[in-house]
Amino acid sequence: MSNQTPAHIVWHSTAVTKEVRQKLNSHKSVILWLTGLSGAGKSTLANEIERKLYARGLRTYLLDGDNVRHGINCDLGFSPEDRKENIRRIGEVAKLFVDAGMIVLTAFISPFREDRALARRIVDGGEFIEVYVKCSLDECEKRDPKGLYKKAKAGEIREFTGISSPYEEPDSPEIVIETDKQSLEQSADIIVRYLESKEIIPTG
Ligand code: ADX
Repeated sequence: MSNQTPAHIVWHSTAVTKEVRQKLNSHKSVILWLTGLSGAGKSTLANEIERKLYARGLRTYLLDGDNVRHGINCDLGFSPEDRKENIRRIGEVAKLFVDAGMIVLTAFISPFREDRALARRIVDGGEFIEVYVKCSLDECEKRDPKGLYKKAKAGEIREFTGISSPYEEPDSPEIVIETDKQSLEQSADIIVRYLESKEIIPTG
């Protein structure tokens, strides 16, 4: 698939801009990009962060791997090329949400550095906050909430991240959360405090 902008397509500026939407919402709009192994706790953490932000009256939206793969990305599998396309589309969709003035949380394994770097590059500086949801492979295998590690080890699922497909740890994520050491409550609070410290959201 080509990533080139088609010829003869001209960008149309809108009268209502990202900046005025942010003003209306009384907070900035960013992407909280959660990356980590399957079973590390990305969806659980993203849900808890969103719950806390919503409770403060902030505008949020959560894009979650398993759900998005039921819809817009239902045509994609788990080969490196398909994962790349998965992340490219999510990055573009997340960018639209940022433009719409919202805090968008994404919860995808997103195992490849290069793909995450692309998602970072397409938004303005400071709008992409990479959160490494870190958890040892051993612990993820122990948790195995969907029984997928067991299947992957038995050879029933191919190209499974951590078993038969690589996970590239982030080099310099904005935030690292260790879900085998920190509680859900502590972890979500760290993210909310980060957003406050960067003046993305008002202090609560
Ligand atoms: S990503 O690698 O392209 O970012 P994504 O987060 O969308 O992956 O989807 C991962 C989810 O799909 C996992 O949580 C798991 O439930 C399911 N899944 C099914 N097959 C695989 C596989 N081969 N590798 C990883 N996850 C898989």
